[in-house]
Parts: sequence; structure tokens; C-alpha cells
Amino acid sequence: MDLCECLRRLIIKRRKGKRILEPFPGPPDHWLFGHVKEFRQDGKDLDKILRWGEQYPLAFPLWFGPSVSFLNIHHPLYVKTILSSTEPKDDVAYAFLVPWIGEGLLVSTEQKWFRHRRLLTPGFHFDVLKPYVTLISDSTKIMLDKWEVHAKSEESFELFQHASLMTLDSIMKCAFSCNSNCQTESGTNPYIQAVYELCHLVNLRFRFFPYHINAIFHLSPHGYRFRKASNIAHRHTEDVIRKRKEVLKTEREQGIVKNKRYLDFLDILLSARDENQHGLSDEDIRAEVDTFMFEGHDTTASGISWIMYSLACNPKHQQKCREEILQVLEGKDTMEWEDLNKIPYTTMCIKESLRFYPPVPGMSRKLTKPMTFFDGRTVPAGCLVAVSVYGIHMNATVWENPHVFDPLRFLPENTAKRLPHAFVPFSAGPRNCIGQNFAMNELKIAVALTLKRYHLIKDINHTPKMIPQIVLRALNGIFIKIKPVKTSPKNI
Ligand code: HEM
Repeated sequence: MDLCECLRRLIIKRRKGKRILEPFPGPPDHWLFGHVKEFRQDGKDLDKILRWGEQYPLAFPLWFGPSVSFLNIHHPLYVKTILSSTEPKDDVAYAFLVPWIGEGLLVSTEQKWFRHRRLLTPGFHFDVLKPYVTLISDSTKIMLDKWEVHAKSEESFELFQHASLMTLDSIMKCAFSCNSNCQTESGTNPYIQAVYELCHLVNLRFRFFPYHINAIFHLSPHGYRFRKASNIAHRHTEDVIRKRKEVLKTEREQGIVKNKRYLDFLDILLSARDENQHGLSDEDIRAEVDTFMFEGHDTTASGISWIMYSLACNPKHQQKCREEILQVLEGKDTMEWEDLNKIPYTTMCIKESLRFYPPVPGMSRKLTKPMTFFDGRTVPAGCLVAVSVYGIHMNATVWENPHVFDPLRFLPENTAKRLPHAFVPFSAGPRNCIGQNFAMNELKIAVALTLKRYHLIKDINHTPKMIPQIVLRALNGIFIKIKPVKTSPKNI
């Protein structure tokens, strides 16, 4: 296709997009760059979305390049319509993830998604999750031991990298029965570095529209870096699968009857059978391992880091959580399954932090049929719809004083008064987060054991600048200081 034909097609696509989105007024856009230049990746992009949300209530168009547009929605009633449907993920941003995480549960559509979701759901049954509590406690304790040096020095330190190692350690132990030792190894972890690089490059590819064309991205230096980081991530997951297959082979050959304490996610993947006795192909297994390895550690690392930062900024709430935790743990240095439901104040603080700092700040769908919203406005099939989780959680028409950290919003009586889709950190509907219970357990364990041991103190010289890069990160890191908690004899 020559350049003229290419331009002609872009112009036609742009005109069509403009026509479709006519009922939705929005911020002015540049004919070539769209709104990309408005998003400077300087820590203020999410604020910009909020400002536009105030100007253009319910929904407004966002353009990424001359021809790719999304209807950005930020009101619970709009979100309810899209998240209750089974519309597939968009074919722009999610497609950029495929060379890395394959067509696993996050990206797959239709029958494949339905079949895999059904096969994998038993992996998150509470009987499976129960023994994970001790494993997550163990991983948390390793992290907290490493923090002693920061408690002694009283100097501030960056949380996200610690939380990433801790959550990678947890998911490796729980889902894949692998003792990774990643928290105690010296130097940086290559898998975590690769995930950071991949998220950065997917985000960059999305913002730079020529990179939407596979060939251009492939031949670019960024495409080269993407392939290199993907290879590192794949080597990590292939290693996990290979080792497990070797164990299973040896067990079969030697007639060993497995007597494992718990069923892990990899067991479920390798033994999953549908009603026709069909299991998953090697490619499908790899994609699910890549998906769960990434989703299962990076989102929770973001959650934990921002929750600890929130508590450092809100010492009174932090202290109330600590009092509750010390009472429940009664001197134990580990959490048990039964303890998870005995810390309601801490749970409300965790939810308030997930509202303030949603680890997955946005997601999107491509419509396969026209969709009409509650106010009568309609968009046709083919339209891309982006759900701004951050925009909903900070929507002042839904939340009173949204910029105030107030865990009491999550008292049952207050939750009952709100629209159900006002709080969607784990999405909602058929494509909600399959790992939600796992994640909430991990967040509770990490927070409880941390607050039992340390006071979290805000570093007044460092304010993290939020950047959405698939998960919510901080451009300049998330720094806090810590001090040991002086334990009374009752709590030793
Ligand atoms: C605080 C932690 C977490 C948050 C905030 C979170 C949030 C989300 C959200 C918003 C979605 C929907 C994404 C979309 O529509 O594109 C999602 C999907 C998903 N999450 Fe999570 N997640 C978390 C932890 C986890 C964990 C621990 C796992 C696995 C162990 C996991 C596995 C998945 C998978 C596989 C999907 C795709 C589900 C499907 O489409 O059927 N997540 N998550």
C-alpha cells in the first residue's frame, strides 16, 4: 500500500470515528496526534482525565493518533452497561500484550475465554486459597526482615521493588509451588526487570501511533527491546513449566503417589479437562502461566505499595489498623485463614487505598454490537470503550470529597447507599478479576504483618507521581520511612 492510500484510509477512519462520537463532546484534539501530547507522562496525566471528566460528564472521546479513538467512560451507570456485557477486550492495547502473555485469560475472547475461565475457576476456590495464607505470610516475613536495615537507618526507601519481589515470591510459591528465593538473591531480578520494561514499552507503543503497525514496531529499537524482554519473561515461565513436567514424569515413572499439601494453579492447568476430556495445549498452558505470573504479582505489588504509602500519609488510620491487628494476632507473627475476616478496619483502609490508587487504573473493550447507555446515547459496533477506573473512583458526583482518605466510606451501611459500579478495582461482571480473593488475602496479610512490626512514616521530601503503565506505578518511586513498633509483653 502506498503512502497516499494509507493517508486516505486514515482520513476515512478518522471521519467515521468523529461521526460516531459526535453525541459525546470532549476536549479538542490534534488532527494527527489526537490527545497523546496532552499526556506527558509527568505524573499529572490522571489529573487531566479528572479535569476533563468534570468538564464532560459521564463520557468523552479520547484520540490516540489520527484514527484510534476511545469513548472514555467515568460514571458507574455507564460502566455498568459495558462491564455487565461480555464484549471482548479492545484489539489495540491488549493486542500489544499478546507477544508477551499470549492469548491467556486476560486477553482471550469468546469460546476460548469461556472454556479457560471455567477450567481455571476451581483454582481460586477457598479450599485452594486456604493454605496460601501461610505461604504469603512467609514471603511477607522475608520482606520485613530485609526492612530492618531501613528501620535502623531511619532513611526513606523505595517500596515498589520490595513489594514486587515479595509478591513474585508469593505467586511462585502459591500458584507454581516454586521456591524462587527471589527476595534473598543479590542483584536485580531479571523477570521483574523484564516486566517493568515490557509495561513501559506497551505503554509507549500505544502512545506512538506509527508503532500501532506491527512491522514498524518490529523493526524499531523499541521493538527489539520488547522482544528481548519478552524472551527473558518467557524463559522464566518456561523454566517453571519444564521443572514441574520433569517432577510429574519422575513421579509417574517411579509410581510415586503424590501427597502434596495443596493443589496449586499449575496442577490445575496441567490436569484440566473439559467435558470432552480435552486438556489445554502447551501453547495455552504457557499463555496462562505468563498471564498469571504477571497479573498475579505486578497488580498486588502496586496495591501493597500504594496501601502502605496511604497509611504512611494517614497515621491515625494506620494506628487504628495496628490496634485491631495486634488484638487479632495476639503475639503471633503469622496470619491464619480465620484472622483474615477479623480485621474490618484494616480491610476498609485497604479498600479506600484501592479507590485512591487503583492498581489497574483502566481497561477497555471493543463493541461487537451497538450499545445504548442509560441516558439514551448510543455507540455502534466497532467502537472502543475505555473504562477509567481512576476516573470513576475520583468522580465527585459519586463520591463526596473524593480526594479525602476516608475508610468509613466502606462501612456496610455506606456501601449500600452507593451505586454498585462506583468501586471497581477488580472490574465487575463476567470478566472481573479471577484472582480477586487471592489478591485481597495477600493485601491483608502484607498490611497486617507490616503494621505489627513497623510504623510507616511519610517522607515529606518525596511525593510519588502516579503513572498508569498497565498497572499504577510512580514515576519517581514510592518512598516511605519506617520505625520499629515497640511491642508490649502481651503482643510479643
Ligand atoms: C490488587 C490486585 C489486583 C487487581 C487490582 C486486579 C485487577 C484486575 C482487573 C481490573 C481486571 C480486569 C482487566 C480487564 O478487563 O482488562 C483483572 C483481570 C484479571 N486478573 Fe486481576 N487484579 C489483581 C490481582 C490478580 C491476581 C493476584 C491474579 C492471579 C493470581 C489476577 C488475575 C487476573 C486475570 C487472569 C484476569 C483476567 C480475567 C478474565 O478476563 O477472565 N489478578 N484484574
